[in-house]
Amino acid sequence: MNPKKLPPVCRIIGTGRAVPERLLTNADFEKMVDTTDEWITTRTGIKTRHIAEPGTPLSKFASEAGHKAIENAGLTPDQIDYLIIGTVTGDMKFPAAANFVQAKLGLVNASTFDISAACSGFLYALEMADALIRGQKAKNVLVIGAEILSSITNYEDRSTCVLFGDGAGAAVVAPRESDDEGGVLSTYTGSNGELYHLLYGPGGGSLHPPKNRDLPSELFTIHMAGNEVFKAAVKTMGDAAVEALDRAGIHEDDIDMLIPHQANLRIIDATAKRLKLDHDKVYINIERYGNTSAASIPIALDEANEKGLLKKGDIILCVAFGAGFTWGSTAIQW
Ligand code: UT7
Repeated sequence: MNPKKLPPVCRIIGTGRAVPERLLTNADFEKMVDTTDEWITTRTGIKTRHIAEPGTPLSKFASEAGHKAIENAGLTPDQIDYLIIGTVTGDMKFPAAANFVQAKLGLVNASTFDISAACSGFLYALEMADALIRGQKAKNVLVIGAEILSSITNYEDRSTCVLFGDGAGAAVVAPRESDDEGGVLSTYTGSNGELYHLLYGPGGGSLHPPKNRDLPSELFTIHMAGNEVFKAAVKTMGDAAVEALDRAGIHEDDIDMLIPHQANLRIIDATAKRLKLDHDKVYINIERYGNTSAASIPIALDEANEKGLLKKGDIILCVAFGAGFTWGSTAIQW
């Protein structure tokens, strides 16, 4: 579907983030697997990642980020009508991570659900929030992207373990009240399940149920054909970015800030190059967080918001790509 440009109906009125305190540095990984700070830095741009203590539930960080976003929006928990969490590492198989966060935050009037779209989860959730508000099914929607990727990372596999981190980011989406306000100008999502085998976590579902105790533990961790994913990410992030611009009826030179999914500095650079953007218009924090999947865009959005880098009227473009494959993009006027 390729909808014609629609007037914006909602905007982001608050943001928040929360990450574990503990850091794993490249020097730590040099002691764990056959790698070097030099390889990790030049191939990925990552220096440190925040890692939760084993057994920490996702809802801890997701609720802290959500609490901050609600406060930043100037709302109270009872004013949230929907909570949507993008994650592949919820507290339990069921219920949804959103149920745990609802209870922790006292979102007594909220319907809740999770979206499993890996690194694109936050932008999928944002598209759902836009649709719910457009359809007048909700007023205030709390959207969270959160992951405890350390719970599904194989710390003996050097090709993946150095990449991932934990954390949560959140945004409150609410109706625009006047034409002077900014808004979500466009959303776009896509998927290609035929390529699932290039990035996936095979164990724990109905195909390889966890109750089968003979399964090897590696089945429950992230499997990735890094280079294949890299090539697909570069092409798809660029295409998705252009699609969000087209849907919003704006151009590359209208962009004030690109907030891309932080999977690899080289992928971010390639996306910026495709959009002909200077470095100072690209928000990059991968060196401090690694790849936090669905959490990476809302963490970056909250940091940029907190630093006052997003000015009223600015055009912000967010774009993500991840397992599924899934992808998403959105153009926002702040
Ligand atoms: O978040 C959603 C999607 N995820 C992504 O977008 C991630 C996409 N992929 C990537 O970011 C990159 O492909 C990686 C960072 C994972 C890998 O970088 P690469 O440049 O594609 O390297 P490669 O997989 O082609 O491996 C190159 C070499 C190999 O050695 P040989 O075969 O050339 O001798 C690997 O074994 O690098 C080796 N290698 C490492 N060496 C030191 C792989 N991991 C490591 C490591 N330390 N940690």
